[in-house]
Parts: sequence; structure tokens; C-alpha cells
Amino acid sequence: MEDELLRLRREALAGFAAASDLSTLEDCRVRYLGRKGLLSTAMRGLGQASEADRPRLGKLANEVKVELEAALDGRRAELGSQETGRRSQAVPPLDLTLPGRAIPFGRPHPVSQVMAEICGIFERLGFAVAEGPDVELDFYNFEGLNIPPHHPARDMHDTFYVSDGVLLRTHTSPMQVRAMQRQSPPLRMIAPGKVYRCDSDLTHTPMFHQVEGFLVDRQVSFADLKGVLSLFIAQVFSPQTAIRFRPSFFPFTEPSAEVDIACVICGGKGCRVCKQTGWLEILGAGLIDPAVFEKVGYDPELYSGFAFGLGVERITMLKYGITDIRLFYENDLRFLRQF
Ligand code: FA5
Repeated sequence: MEDELLRLRREALAGFAAASDLSTLEDCRVRYLGRKGLLSTAMRGLGQASEADRPRLGKLANEVKVELEAALDGRRAELGSQETGRRSQAVPPLDLTLPGRAIPFGRPHPVSQVMAEICGIFERLGFAVAEGPDVELDFYNFEGLNIPPHHPARDMHDTFYVSDGVLLRTHTSPMQVRAMQRQSPPLRMIAPGKVYRCDSDLTHTPMFHQVEGFLVDRQVSFADLKGVLSLFIAQVFSPQTAIRFRPSFFPFTEPSAEVDIACVICGGKGCRVCKQTGWLEILGAGLIDPAVFEKVGYDPELYSGFAFGLGVERITMLKYGITDIRLFYENDLRFLRQF
């Protein structure tokens, strides 16, 4: 038994010393000092030794165990520091002269950029900015704008309904009614935001942006509307851009007009984008119908006003010569990075 313990001691010490890395050392520990290892097995055999030898052999076994544990700890520390040294040598030295890593940064979406530009132009003309809800009541989107139930004008809007009497606003014009309900004249406001219509092709998307503008005061005329819109178009495009006011119909304005600009792609000669007409529509406008004033309690004998609603995607397309509106919403970075 004594020989057996001394042999184990010799072999284990040699094993620890020969282990060249921490994982081999761990295997060695399990082999000799593990719960089912060789030393534990030998110690369990102590019961078979004679009563006279047992105390001496027990003492020896404990000494071997303590010695092996100390040797193991020592070797583990040695190998640990060798491995740390090897790892730190594997890291290349820090080169402070290397150029920094560029962090890619985003920028506003082209539609947001043009939206900000449009709002800036009107703000400089003294228009206050107001925002309203995307989920709107039928009253504000239609009835308050002189579009009663079953009016054929509702068909022009391809509305997404949320529930009975609640819908996704089809234009920003509801903000006219909300603002006029809240405030007495004079009033000079723009209302930018998202609008929704069940409509999709080269020039239409189901969600797009409009900026509504309206001004109410005494003696506001169509000439005021023309003056403001001409100035706006000269700033957003160029002072040379030709403009055309074309008679149109909206239930909430009378008279009504749609405003076209000379096609920026062909310069008015006629092309695929302007459908050979030489003109492109950018907004709807008119003098606010007295029926709308009556709905919000304004006196139509005392006040008059103009309103307009322009399509922001349409203006962005014309500014940058983009021929498919869907490009704005495909999140293709090759397209978006150009702005
Ligand atoms: C209106 O929405 C009226 N509320 C505008 C208005 C306001 C008239 C105030 C009078 C007074 P219209 O449906 O024409 O009008 O839309 C206005 C502009 O939104 C259009 O000129 C066009 O530029 C843009 N537009 C309309 N539908 C879409 C669509 N599906 N996708 C992208 N742009 C659109």
C-alpha cells in the first residue's frame, strides 16, 4: 500500500510537470485527484490494511494528497501566466497612425428634405404649422368639408376605413376644419402630414404626404392665392418655371383650381411623364367655400379665405426627375444615398 501511494505520488508529479497546457493539466487532475481518481481509489482501499498500519498509511495518503494539490496549484498558475503571455503576443501592437474607421451616417429621406423645404418657405411667409391625426373622423375628412354621405366626391378619395365613421385621412384638408373650430380669424396656417388612399401606380402610392395651406381674413381674394402659390413655386423650383391655374372642382372650395407646372423633364414639349401634355399637376386649391365657414361658425359675409393642398412626393419627383414614385418606399440605399 505504501509503495502504491508513493508510486501514485511520483507519477502524478511527473504528469503535472509534463502537462503543457491547462486542459492537459485538468485531465491529469481528474486522473489522480478526481472524485473517482487513482488517489481516492487507493484511499478507499485503506480499510483493508491491518489495524497497526492503518494510521501511518492514512497519514501518508493525506500528505500525498496535500502535496499533489499544492503541486497542481503551482503548475496551474505557471501555465495560466504562460497562456496569458502567449495571447497578448498574438494581439498586434496598436498603430495610432492608422486612419479612423468611418461610421456610416444616415440623412433625412428625400421626401422629408423636401417637406422641410416646403414648410420653411411658408413659415417665412408667416404661416404657422399645425399637425393633426392620421386616423380621422368622417366628419373632419368629409362632412365638415361639405362632402355629405353619398356625395359622389367621396369616390375620388379611395378611402381606407378603420370602422364606421373612422378612417385614415385621405387628405390634409381636415386640418382646415379642426383649426377653424379652434381659432377665430385671421388665420394663416400650413398642415403637413401623411395621407392614405387605396391607390398605387407610377405616380400614386397608398401612403403619401401633403401640405395643406389656408388663410382666412377679411377680403381675401383669388389674387392672394395666386400670389402666394406663384412665390412658392418660384422658390421650390425656379423663378422661370411656367405655372398654369386650371379650373377644377373640390366641394370645399369655390372657385377651385388645380395648379400645373411646365414639365420639368421635357421643358413643356411633351413626354411620357407629362403624358404628352407638357404640364404636370402639383396641387389643388381654391377659395374656401362659404358652406365650410358655416360648419365652423365663421360668418361668410365677413370673412373669405383660400386653401391649397399639395403632394410632397409629386414635388420631390419633379425636383429630382424621378419617374416612379414607388422608389421612395423601397428602402433601396443606392437610391436614397443620392439625396
Ligand atoms: C386634395 O387632396 C385636396 N384636399 C387638395 C385641396 C386642398 C384642394 C385645399 C383645395 C383646397 P387631390 O386629390 O387632387 O386634392 O390631391 C392633391 C395632390 O396630392 C395632388 O395634386 C397630387 O400631387 C397628390 N396626390 C394625390 N393622390 C396621390 C397619391 N395616391 N400618391 C401620391 N400623391 C398623390
